[in-house]
Amino acid sequence: MARKALWKRSDKFAFGAWTVMNAGGDPFGEATRPQLSGPDAVRGLGERDVYGFEFHDNDLVPIGTPPRRRDAILREVRKIMGSTGIKATAGTTNLFSHRVFKDGAFTSHDPKVRAYAVQKAMAGIDLAAELGAGVYIFWGGREGAEVDVAKDPVEALKRFREAMNFLCAYVLDQGYKMVFSIEPKPNEPRSDMYLATAGHALAFIATLDHPDMAGVNPELAHVKMAGLNVVHEVAQPLEAGKLVDIHLNAQKPLRFDQDMSFGADNPKEALLVVKLLSDYGYAGTKAFDCHPYRTEADPWDFVERNMTAYKLLEAKVDRVNSDARLVAMLEELTGADDAGLGDVLLSYSRKNAAKLRGMKFDPAKLAERRLLYERIDQRLTEILLGAE
Ligand code: NOJ
Ligand code: MG
Repeated sequence: MARKALWKRSDKFAFGAWTVMNAGGDPFGEATRPQLSGPDAVRGLGERDVYGFEFHDNDLVPIGTPPRRRDAILREVRKIMGSTGIKATAGTTNLFSHRVFKDGAFTSHDPKVRAYAVQKAMAGIDLAAELGAGVYIFWGGREGAEVDVAKDPVEALKRFREAMNFLCAYVLDQGYKMVFSIEPKPNEPRSDMYLATAGHALAFIATLDHPDMAGVNPELAHVKMAGLNVVHEVAQPLEAGKLVDIHLNAQKPLRFDQDMSFGADNPKEALLVVKLLSDYGYAGTKAFDCHPYRTEADPWDFVERNMTAYKLLEAKVDRVNSDARLVAMLEELTGADDAGLGDVLLSYSRKNAAKLRGMKFDPAKLAERRLLYERIDQRLTEILLGAE
């Protein structure tokens, strides 16, 4: 791309190594571009001033790799990290590709499969710790069902919890500085998956032995697949202090997992996600989890466009937040609290309850208030479209 790069490492952008290793194959067709190795993926990202990479255990170390070869790969990746400055920001376990996980990993009926999954996650956690990753993601790709009568969902959640508790205790025992992150998804590859949304994940985390050790990384496309609101899905873990990572991309609602580049489908929605993260000073990594169109010969235009889109949207957020007309209209929405009602509602006390009981409200009068939503929304659209 001819444009001067807009991003810097301090933006804390990351890519899943798997995003650039995607060779264009899909359920209906073969690969369309050469398959990058894990180390080459990390190198390519590092050379483009990307802050970090996320990885599955098998992106770097294919399943069945002998220990000496594993160590050699690790040395190579560390060398690339040293020479390009890229960091390992999040690790995860591939608990979905191998046929052993055809009916789940942590939630499999078979205790041997569950034990193999936990053992594989322990090894992945070791790998992530060795590379310095502070976040470890759990995306339950195969944790779900097609035939609900054949798998008790209550039992499945208990098994999921057992595995997470075991692994939290493992991290503590090893003294690793690492938090877990659950990545929700409603379906695909399973017909229905457990922990489908950020809300499901947050409720589940509260039941863990070490709830402080776990957060959520919502993925925008997964939210759209559930037909939900991406801004709300990110806001809930953010408000709970549980947003430990985010997977940015784009997706038309209610379709197969499209994994398009950030901003490719609904720029207004993307703008509001960037605004949320920037207004609330989100300090974690912003990871892109999508893949190049199948028509691309290599993944590098894709890498650059995602970061460029974020930076352009970030500049728009500054414009939105400093637009006098918009700011004035937004301020008008809240109205003046001349009766000090905010304090009454802040916390329950008998005094506050008595005060509230004694107050007179005129609902018809209150309903007269004009809310300038048409104008506000239009002003946002204008800014997005570059109007003065
Ligand atoms: C692949 C999934 O498509 C993606 O959404 C997820 O973040 C990673 N695996 C991590 O497990
Ligand atoms: Mg993801």
